[in-house]
Amino acid sequence: MAADKTILKALAGETQPTPPIWMMRQAGRYLPEYKATRAEAGDFLSLCYNSDLATEVTLQPIRRYGFDAAILFADILLLPQALGADLWFVTGEGPRLSTITDQRGLDALKPVEDIHETLNPIYQTVRNLTTALPRETTLIGFAGAPWTVATYMIAGRGTPDQGPAHALKDENKAVFEGLLNRITEGTIEYLSAQIEAGAEVVKLFDSWAGSLRGADFDKYATAPAKRIISELKTRHPGIPVIAFPREAGDKYIGFHAKTGADCVAIDDSVSAEWAAEHVQKDGCVQGNLASSHMVTGGDALVRETKRIVKAFGKGPHIFNLGHGITPDADPDNVQRMIDAVRGG
Ligand code: CP3
Repeated sequence: MAADKTILKALAGETQPTPPIWMMRQAGRYLPEYKATRAEAGDFLSLCYNSDLATEVTLQPIRRYGFDAAILFADILLLPQALGADLWFVTGEGPRLSTITDQRGLDALKPVEDIHETLNPIYQTVRNLTTALPRETTLIGFAGAPWTVATYMIAGRGTPDQGPAHALKDENKAVFEGLLNRITEGTIEYLSAQIEAGAEVVKLFDSWAGSLRGADFDKYATAPAKRIISELKTRHPGIPVIAFPREAGDKYIGFHAKTGADCVAIDDSVSAEWAAEHVQKDGCVQGNLASSHMVTGGDALVRETKRIVKAFGKGPHIFNLGHGITPDADPDNVQRMIDAVRGG
């Protein structure tokens, strides 16, 4: 591992004159070359489990833009599948899973040690990437955080308010907490295997953390992240971790210290100036540019990009979007953003 990689320097707490940059969902449908490879694979899940093609789509945005980090091409819902849930994607709608709503459903899941049987092709993608990436590019592995993964496993699909997961939490806490624990233990094994295969950083996506309020946030977002991060750091001393408790609002404050995360990724619902004052004082931050700028472009894109770079300029910072880039984004706007960050 090259210690001079810009992403690793930021994660170690270094302030750099130009922040390193990568983008959530940088391999995706806004890129024609992604669509071509996905068509070759047949469907999204076949692409995830085909190590050669998953390696190819991970590399595409690196070739096109020279991002400082590559993120493994996979999905947060592969872990539920490896635990025994049925998983499929409905075109134009999103993921569907078999649901878990009672003790029987929980008991029917596979033991955590069995996940690797399903997930081995993902580890092979990571191994491929360790030799295929340019030497200056950092490889990021990832998983969903337990609450976010549980919302899909309980409802069987994406939900606007995570209603079914909140209902199970309130009506059958034993099953809810049993499921969260199983996902937590599975996530530790999944990320640990990615690190052993060559991931240099791992990221935990808690995309639905924002719907957890008060003590629920501490119990079901903060505590599982802390458990996962401390176990990973015990097994793999020095492994940097990025946590993304999306839409945490005030709960972003102190999240580094409470979980042990080296970097906290921030959505676009708070200002960079606020996050610099309240969150970056504790460590590296990442994110904040509204993904919509990748669609609309223009002066606003350049202005907002430079404002974020300036706001986070006095501390460790990785430039990124506040959430994933969308399929309707213009690939040229991505280049404009990169030029604005790197001073072009
Ligand atoms: O480039 C990358 O960022 C790496 C790969 C990656 C994907 N999903 C590929 C993907 C990553 C890091 C994810 C994370 C993920 N997956 C999250 C957390 C981040 C977030 O967006 O909040 C979540 C919630 C999922 C679950 C998921 N996967 C949903 C809800 C959907 C359908 C919605 C959609 O955008 O179509 C997916 C599908 C998915 N995962 C695609 C990609 C490139 C699109 C699938 C396609 O090609 O048809």
